Amino acid sequence: MKVTIVGAGNVGSTCADVIASQSIASEVVLLDIKEGFAEGKALDMMQTSTTLGFGTKIVGTTGDYTLTANSDVVVITSGIPRKPGMTREELIEINAGIVKNVSENILKHSSEAIIIVVSNPMDTMTYLTLKSTGLPKNRVIGMGGVLDSSRFKTYLSLAIERPANDIHGMVIGGHGDTTMIPLTRLASYNGIPISELISSEKLEKVSQDTMVGGATLTKLLGTSAWYAPGASVGFLVKSILNDEKRIIPCSVFLDGEYNQDDICIGVPCVIGKNGCEKIIDIDLNDQEKVKFSESAEAVRKMNLAL
Ligand code: LAC
Repeated sequence: MKVTIVGAGNVGSTCADVIASQSIASEVVLLDIKEGFAEGKALDMMQTSTTLGFGTKIVGTTGDYTLTANSDVVVITSGIPRKPGMTREELIEINAGIVKNVSENILKHSSEAIIIVVSNPMDTMTYLTLKSTGLPKNRVIGMGGVLDSSRFKTYLSLAIERPANDIHGMVIGGHGDTTMIPLTRLASYNGIPISELISSEKLEKVSQDTMVGGATLTKLLGTSAWYAPGASVGFLVKSILNDEKRIIPCSVFLDGEYNQDDICIGVPCVIGKNGCEKIIDIDLNDQEKVKFSESAEAVRKMNLAL
C-alpha cells in the first residue's frame, strides 16, 4: 500500500512519520517544492526505521510527481499555514491555486487514489478538490472532524480528570473557529453521559476551548499545529488502507444529508477502502440542527470566494 503526502512541512512530515512508524503503509512518498526538503525529511525518517523497528520505505522528492505513481491514498497538506491571529479562512486565495494544481498533478499518476485534503480553509479546499477534479464524492475526504474530535476528547478528559481513551465524543460542522460543533449532548465516558460528570458551565468551556483548539496552538507555537493533525491523518489513512470501516467525522460532499447539498462539511462517515463509503445521518436535536445550518451557511459563503 502506497501513500503520497504532498507538502513536507510540519503537518505533512508528521503524517509521514506516523504512517511509517506505525507501519500503516509499505511506502510513503513525501513531495515538496522546496529544493531538497522532502528528500532530507524522508532520509531522516528512514534512519529511524532500525531503532523504531518498521519496514516502511520513505521516499522524498522535490516536485517529481512520477514517484507518486499508483498511490492508494494521497494527502494534500500543501499551502501556507496560518500565523497567530489569522483565521483558516484568510488562507483561501493562495491555497486554492496550490491545491488545484496539486490535485491535477496527482491524478495524472494515481488515477484511482483516494484524496485526503488537509490544507485550509479545509472544507472549502475539499469542495474545490472535488469540483476541479470531478472525482466521485467518496474519493475526496477533508480531514478536520477527527482532529477536532481528538481535541474535544482531550479537553473533556482534562475537565473530568479521567483517561482520554475512555471518552467518546464527536465534533461535526465546519473546521473553523466559529463553525465547528462539539456534540456535547452525545459525549460519554464509558457509557456515562458526560453531562452526569461535569457541570453545564464546564462542558460549555470545553466546547469553547475545542472550537479555538487550533488557534490556541497557533498562538503558542507561532504557526499551525502538527502532532495532532499528523496523527489524525494517520488514523484516517489506516481506516482506509485496512478497510476498517470506522465511523469518523470527515468533511465530505453532502447530497441531501443533514438537509444540505452542494457543500463539503464535517459529518460522521464510514471510512474504508473506498474512502467515504457511507454518511451516517444522525438525528440532531433542534438546537444542533440550527448550529449545523449556520455552520453550513458560513462554509458556503467561503466557497463563494473560490
Ligand atoms: C489545525 C489545522 C490543521 O486545526 O487546521 O490545527
